[in-house]
Amino acid sequence: MDNLGRPAKLYATRWASLVGAVAVAGCHTDHRQSILHPASSASEQIAWLWWFLFTICTAVFVIVMVLTWLAVRPQSHSDDPRPASQENVGLGNRFILWCGAIIPSVILLVILVASVGTQKALEQPETKLTIEVVGHQFWWEIHYPDYDFEIANEIYIPVGEPVRLELISADVTHSLWIPNLHGKTDLLPDKVNVTWIQADRSGVFRGQCAEYCGVQHALMALEVIALPREEFDQWLADRQKPIEPPTDELQERGRQVFVAANCNNCHTVGGDRAARKRGPDLTHFGNRKTVGAGILPNNRGNLAGWISNPQAIKPGNLMPRTHIEAEDLHALVEYLENLK
Ligand code: CUA
Repeated sequence: MDNLGRPAKLYATRWASLVGAVAVAGCHTDHRQSILHPASSASEQIAWLWWFLFTICTAVFVIVMVLTWLAVRPQSHSDDPRPASQENVGLGNRFILWCGAIIPSVILLVILVASVGTQKALEQPETKLTIEVVGHQFWWEIHYPDYDFEIANEIYIPVGEPVRLELISADVTHSLWIPNLHGKTDLLPDKVNVTWIQADRSGVFRGQCAEYCGVQHALMALEVIALPREEFDQWLADRQKPIEPPTDELQERGRQVFVAANCNNCHTVGGDRAARKRGPDLTHFGNRKTVGAGILPNNRGNLAGWISNPQAIKPGNLMPRTHIEAEDLHALVEYLENLK
């Protein structure tokens, strides 16, 4: 009896853990990165398909489990299976034909039709705005080719308008996934892939690299910021303004440190696009919401920590450790945070 009791307890614990984990995941209140909280017609369609598949798969799972239980349940003598008569063999064969071939084929066909229908609804619409996204280990380079400026790890879009995204990689394969807005599309080193996003409400939507690309794959994040059209136009205009040289003494010292410490070997401030460099463009860095592609909020303390030892925060990224004296670091942080 004891031998039977222990596995049952073990299974009960495992089931409770599984149900608990699913419940906790479902109760999560931050919906900035969730396919189940769509913010566009495309993601609504994807969410619908998700629920549809989930319902069918759950029903199939429950039915199979019930049938399995009926087949293996302990039976008393009076339940003894009937002898294998001709009639029973015929019944068994019909069961295999229906449940093993016909019904599964119908289910797969229905799923195929639903998937193709969803694919159709995701077709590229007419767009006015194009944004180029370049994947790097482990950050996102974002260009607005019609306006000739570049930012990093943030995509600003106007609310209610489809935006064309042209995706390419500078190194290995990455995949752009902003679950609230659309499905995934790969970024390949040798081919431009095209997709589109649209946000039907303003807000911040978090995206994530969805293709393993190296040690910091899981921390290769970005944010899509959807603004009402007037705010977006203002944002576009601000991004195109040239950066004024610092008038403040501390910031000017920071600018000199930026050059002396060779930050400008990899990063551009107010440079032209021809001088495209290895690291993120920092022209309007003070407006960025995060440091290190979504890893830390952008503030003076985090930026100082990042510059001093980026490898401690995001091991394996391409930015080496710097050796800048405390006062110079302070000036450098002031300079960068005031680039707005
Ligand atoms: Cu980039 Cu994973």
